[in-house]
Amino acid sequence: MATKLPTTDIRVSADAIRRRKGGLPIVCLTAYTYPIARLLDPHVDLLLVGDSVAMVLHGHQTTLGASLDMMIAHGQAVMRGSAEACVVVDMPAGTYEDSAEQAVASARRIVGETVCQAVKLEGGVGMAAQIAAIVAAEIPVMGHIGLQPQSVEKDGGYKIKGRTDENVAALIADALAVEKAGAFSLVIEGTIEPVAAEITRRIAIPTIGIGASSDCDGQILVIDDMVGLTVDRVPKFVKQYADLRSVIAHAAERYAAEVRNREFPGRAHVFSKSNAGDEA
Ligand code: KIV
Repeated sequence: MATKLPTTDIRVSADAIRRRKGGLPIVCLTAYTYPIARLLDPHVDLLLVGDSVAMVLHGHQTTLGASLDMMIAHGQAVMRGSAEACVVVDMPAGTYEDSAEQAVASARRIVGETVCQAVKLEGGVGMAAQIAAIVAAEIPVMGHIGLQPQSVEKDGGYKIKGRTDENVAALIADALAVEKAGAFSLVIEGTIEPVAAEITRRIAIPTIGIGASSDCDGQILVIDDMVGLTVDRVPKFVKQYADLRSVIAHAAERYAAEVRNREFPGRAHVFSKSNAGDEA
């Protein structure tokens, strides 16, 4: 049976995020699951159900492993686990690039099935028509320029942006195009600091930095990178605030030892005739 997805009046809207331009920094993290959304919701303004889920939770080599069904299932879990944050769901590669019609159909499916506040897609000048069409369909859009993980195969790796004059001009054109198309905010990823700061000054919508600049209007990190759960590649720009891999490895090691020496389950973890109640 499907569980009703929560939509509360106290949820931060995409418009409220837009109005935070130049104000208190906007705190964003990715989230993919119900328990993590429950934990993060009281601390953040925005939860992004990033297509990084394909790598972080599903073990794909790139974000190209994400599908619309995958994003919707994780989007629903994050909506169930949160009550206040603005929830944005990533549009996976292959679901919006071909035409404005394809982009609107995919965005409508995401919002219709998750009740999230907005969608995010990668690209600047080349995706302005798609952004404008989704916004015209009354679905808020977050843009994403700079290092675009959906293009790493084309780009030959996770390459830092903004190191040549030509690239700086292209980045500024991308930012202006995303703003003009009506996006409510813009993720700038893997872009040299002065360029990310300059874009933040040049556009009227909030910029959300990841490997960008502390001058951005907000910051985002991938949750698994931030808490030390990521098993494969962790980008250089990540600050790790916890080491959950060692916590989990240590717990598993203790559990294995206690099962092997029959210390677990102990008396408190088995049932007898005199245990109170019928519930496990
Ligand atoms: O997919 C993702 O997690 C993202 C963030 C890195 C911004 O797009």
